[in-house]
This record gives sequence, structure tokens and C-alpha cells, in this order.
Amino acid sequence: MKMTFLGHSTVHVDTGNHKFIIDPFLTGNPLAAASAEDIKVDYVLLTHGHSDHIGDAELIARRNGATIIGIVELANYFTSLGLKTIGMNLGGSLKLPFGTIKFTPALHTSSITKDGVNLYLGAPAGILVQLNGHSLYHAGDTALFSDLKLIGDRHPIDVALIPIGDFFTMGPDDALLAAQWIHAKHTVPIHYNTFPPIEQNGEEFVNKLQQAGLKGHALKPGESLDLTEL
Ligand code: NI
Ligand code: MN
Repeated sequence: MKMTFLGHSTVHVDTGNHKFIIDPFLTGNPLAAASAEDIKVDYVLLTHGHSDHIGDAELIARRNGATIIGIVELANYFTSLGLKTIGMNLGGSLKLPFGTIKFTPALHTSSITKDGVNLYLGAPAGILVQLNGHSLYHAGDTALFSDLKLIGDRHPIDVALIPIGDFFTMGPDDALLAAQWIHAKHTVPIHYNTFPPIEQNGEEFVNKLQQAGLKGHALKPGESLDLTEL
């Protein structure tokens, strides 16, 4: 059961029998560790509608005949493009062939720009994925908020993917508190170093996690964690 960080907030998971990707942004991502054309998946999960999270959703879904899953307004947008979608909402879960997913609150926004005008695409979210005894939490682009504690208390999490870039999301200090509240067995920083405003030191963040008694991995784009070995 391999989880590969592909850069920014993009994560590819291969369970052995199924493959899915979260927040594909490879085209135009200077740190991308893969090309969107090469991605093979059955599902595309999206935390929110910003271009650095949905950038390659259409291309990947179309090439693979994959289903896009997101908050209902975001899913409806991809339905309008002729793609297969499942529209969900916060707090709801869904059984899929590879496991169960649940959309959790995130404090952020969710929109795309069409012809210079913002088109709002529902609430932003985080995504919890339960995979045959292993669990993954992708926090999306959230700010720090105290219900992250609720998410951690409610769900045992093996790997939490937490933004540390600052400017658009939590920065490292808030992310450290978030990691303590979520208390995942392993924390992986995401959403940093892709662009100048979000330059951060992932190793330094991981050192701070360790000082707080938590395990962290500053995965370089292209590096993987085997969830069965954690
Ligand atoms: Ni965003
Ligand atoms: Mn973002």
C-alpha cells in the first residue's frame, strides 16, 4: 500500500488493487515528480476547487475514465465538463472499492476563475481515507482551527498530510499545533516550496515534530511511504 508524494498537495495512492490521486497539480507545477499524462488511477479526490489542486483533474479523469469525487458544487462543475463524478458534502462518508472516504471541514475558500470572474465551488474540505486497516488524512489547504482536534480524536490517523507553506494556508508554527491536535502516527508536510510565497523548510518542520514527540517525513516529490510498513 504505497503513498507517493508528487509535489505540492498531490498524493498518489496504490493499494495494490486500486489507485487514486488526491489534488492533482502536475502541469505547471515546477516541483512535480510526474507528468499528468502518465498517471493511472480509478478515482480523483479533490479537497477544493483552486487551480493548484484541480489543475490536472480533468485531464487525468478523462484519460483514465476515472471518477472525480469532491464537494457537490465542485463535482457539479466537472459533471458539466462531461466527466463522471460523485458529489459529497462535509461530514459524509462513502464506501468505495478501495476503502471509505469522508470529507471533513477545512477553513479556506474554493473557487476557480472563469473569464476573469470568480466561480465559487462550495466549501473547502479535508479528506479522510480508511484503507483496509490504514488511514490517511489530507488536510487540504486549511488554516488552523480547533476542530482539527475533533478530527484527530474521532479518527485514528496513520498518516496526516498537512500544509505548512503559510500565506495561503497554515504556516509551520500553526501546522505544528495542528499536527499535535491531529496526533497522526506520521505527519507529512505538503503545500510548500512550489512557489516563492510558500517557501519553507520541510526538514526543520519535521525536527520540530520530533521535538514534540511526533514522527514526520519531509518527503521529496517522488518519494513514497509504504503504509503497511509504518
Ligand atoms: Ni487553495
Ligand atoms: Mn493551494
